[in-house]
Amino acid sequence: MRVFVPKERHPEERRVAATPETVKKLVRSGFECVVESGAGTDSDLPDDAYRKVGATIDTSGTAWREADVVLKVSPPTAEEAAKSRPQTVIIGFFEPQQNVGVVSTLAKNNVTTLAMELIPRITRAQSMDALSSQASIGGYKAVVLAASRLGRYFPLLMTAAGTVPPAKVVILGAGVAGLQALATAKRLGAVVEVSDIRPAVKEQIESLGGKFIDLPEQVDAEDAGGYAKEMGEDFLQRQREILTQHLATANVVITTAQIPGKKAPMLMSRQMVEAMHPGAIIVDMAAASGGNCELTELGEEVVHNGVLILGPASLPATMAHDASLLYSRNVLALVEHMLTDGKLEIDPQDDVLSGALLTHAGAILHAPTSALVEEVSS
Ligand code: NAI
Repeated sequence: MRVFVPKERHPEERRVAATPETVKKLVRSGFECVVESGAGTDSDLPDDAYRKVGATIDTSGTAWREADVVLKVSPPTAEEAAKSRPQTVIIGFFEPQQNVGVVSTLAKNNVTTLAMELIPRITRAQSMDALSSQASIGGYKAVVLAASRLGRYFPLLMTAAGTVPPAKVVILGAGVAGLQALATAKRLGAVVEVSDIRPAVKEQIESLGGKFIDLPEQVDAEDAGGYAKEMGEDFLQRQREILTQHLATANVVITTAQIPGKKAPMLMSRQMVEAMHPGAIIVDMAAASGGNCELTELGEEVVHNGVLILGPASLPATMAHDASLLYSRNVLALVEHMLTDGKLEIDPQDDVLSGALLTHAGAILHAPTSALVEEVSS
């Protein structure tokens, strides 16, 4: 079987879906690996490193059409979807609800697509959990980014010129990204407070040295899959009131709150930002799904009353080497999970694949995306 690793087309995407480490393993498993020239350059992985482990470097531009399996990071473009031939298997992030047209084309072309973001969070699939590997990088990078822009120290310092108080960091959302941000900010010596609506995370926050911000009422905020449920506007309003006092004294705010498949909850209003000190920094990691802060602009830096608000589109892509290293291992684990006698066996009943299969045998298998396609075409 021929595996193709294209260079990513999205202008901000610096990651690559296979590294020399994973290509070597694919070659050992019997795959023929073709890597588009320059695919790894932005991740500091030159063509030669792939060549050395047995890959062919492609410059012809035709390898996508000839591939049995395509390994991607960002969702395919309309052009990539259109040139995919029937029976090809494409693995990557698809952001299906934002790419309805591309998903429809792939289904019509009878392409099998496996969405990394739809892999179930079950123990068996932990090695394939790209949402976690990338969110963890994002949480780390958000703190490092804020620290590099802040005109203050993070740690408490006792110097001959007097004492410098530690920075105060507030983190909204304690999923994978938020917990990594907490751990990173603590390592740098900051005082950290964290808010989440899932009571289960209180213990995790405290074990990492953070202070949990108690909300006014305990609500049933967790669904059966362990994800947060969408909260009503009344609850969010009460939550914002409580957060206001905590945010007013923060030097850095990292927001990571998300509801799967929905717009991110708005946790910081314009007034809350206006109550903050000049020089404070907000890194809104939910910018791509609408933002947790009312003033965030996706991919932009906004300064409001002296507060800097960053809305990065993809922090993992800015740490491309390690992000590619981990992501490519998640992808390899999925490929190995399907590998039977040198071929990929796509069993829609398999407990990992039943979640991850987006399109297969001409149909869209992910119900929310399929419903959206019908809505758009009716
Ligand atoms: P996510 O990216 O969907 O959301 C981030 C965080 O935002 C969550 O902790 C959520 O509770 C929080 N949030 C939502 N609304 C909020 C609000 N109004 N205020 C404050 N916080 C709010 O979360 P992620 O990182 O994808 O993790 C979701 C769940 O998946 C967690 O329960 C995590 O433990 C679980 N998980 C399970 C894994 C496994 O079993 N293999 C691996 C990774 C995560």
